Amino acid sequence: MEMDRIAEAVTMLRAGNVIGFPTETVYGLGANAENAEAVAKIFELKGRPRNHPLIVHLADAQQLPEWAREIPDAAWALAEGFWPGPLTIILKRGERAIDETTGGHDTIGLRVPAHPLALALLRAFGGGIAAPSANRFGAVSPTTAEHVRAEFGNEVPLILDGGPCAVGLESTIVDLSGDKPAILRPGAITPEQLKSVLETDVPHLRSSKTHAPGLLASHYAPKAQVILVTAAEAAEREESLRASGKKIVRLSASSDLAEQARSLYAAMRTADEQGADVLLAVLPDESGLGLAIADRLRKAAAPREKSEPRPQGSDRQES
Ligand code: TXA
Ligand code: MG
Repeated sequence: MEMDRIAEAVTMLRAGNVIGFPTETVYGLGANAENAEAVAKIFELKGRPRNHPLIVHLADAQQLPEWAREIPDAAWALAEGFWPGPLTIILKRGERAIDETTGGHDTIGLRVPAHPLALALLRAFGGGIAAPSANRFGAVSPTTAEHVRAEFGNEVPLILDGGPCAVGLESTIVDLSGDKPAILRPGAITPEQLKSVLETDVPHLRSSKTHAPGLLASHYAPKAQVILVTAAEAAEREESLRASGKKIVRLSASSDLAEQARSLYAAMRTADEQGADVLLAVLPDESGLGLAIADRLRKAAAPREKSEPRPQGSDRQES
C-alpha cells in the first residue's frame, strides 16, 4: 500500500531529497520548501529557470499566516470554498518563504491539494512542500506515476503512486497579491465558481509579465505539431493533412469536459509514442472547464522555438 510509504517519503524530504507524489491535478516533484538545496534540485531536475516560482503545498489553510502576509478576506473565502482542491492562491510572501522557492519574487503561490496521499504526506511532514509539475521544462505534465517514471527514471528514486489524477490539468492560479483578483492560469476551479465566492468577476490575465516570468504562449507541448480546428472543419483538415503524408492523431472532443481534461495530457503522450506528426484538436467552448482545456491546447499549439531538443532556459512560461 502506498500509504505505508508515506514515512519513507517524509524521511526523504527531511534529508533534502526530491520525491514524486500525486495530487488531484497532476503529479508533483516535491521538496522541503524551506531547504534551499533541496529546492535547487527540483530546478536542476526540471531544467527550469531559477526565477520561475514554485507553488508551496500545505496540509491546511491554518498554516497560511506562516507563509503569507497581509492576507485579504478574499483569500480566506477562497480557501474555505475550495481547499483542499485544485486552486493556488498568490499572496504576498510570509516568514517561511525563501527566495529559492519564490524565485526571488515578493509573492508566493500556496495550495492545499485534495489527493488523499498528498494530504497524508503533508500532514506527516508538517511543513510546506514546494512542488512543480513532475515534467521537464516545457513538456507535458504527468497524470500517472508511470509518466513520472518515464520522464525521470532513477533520478527520482521515490514516486508515490496514487493512480491517475482525477482532474488532469494544473490548478487554477488566482492572484490576490494586488488590488484586484485575477486568474493567472485557468483550471478546474472555474471563473464562475470564483465569482460565486468573491462576488466579483475574476478576469483571466493572458499575459502578466510581472507575475509569471515570461508568460509566453508555447508550453505543455508534445513533440507532435498541434493544430487547432473548429468542429466544422476537422474532417476536411484531417483529410488534407493525411493526403500530404502526415501521420495524424485526432484528439477526440467530448461533451464531457471533465473527462476531456482528465485524459488530455495522456492523449498527448500517446500521440508522441505513436510517432504522430500532427495532433488535431477541436477547441471547446471557453466557459467553465472549457477555458482551462482551451488554454492548454492553445499553449500546446503555439509556435515553438526549435522543437528538438526542447529549449532550456528559454522564455517559455511554467512547466
Ligand atoms: O496543479 C498544480 O498547480 C501542480 C501540482 C503539482 O500542484 N503544480 C504546478 O506547478 O503546476 P508548476 O510549477 O508546474 O506551475 C506553477 C505555476 C508557474 O507558472 C509559476 O510561474 C506560477 O505557478 N507561480 C508560482 N508562484 C507564483 C507567484 N508567486 N506569482 C506568480 N506565479 C506563480
Ligand atoms: Mg508545470
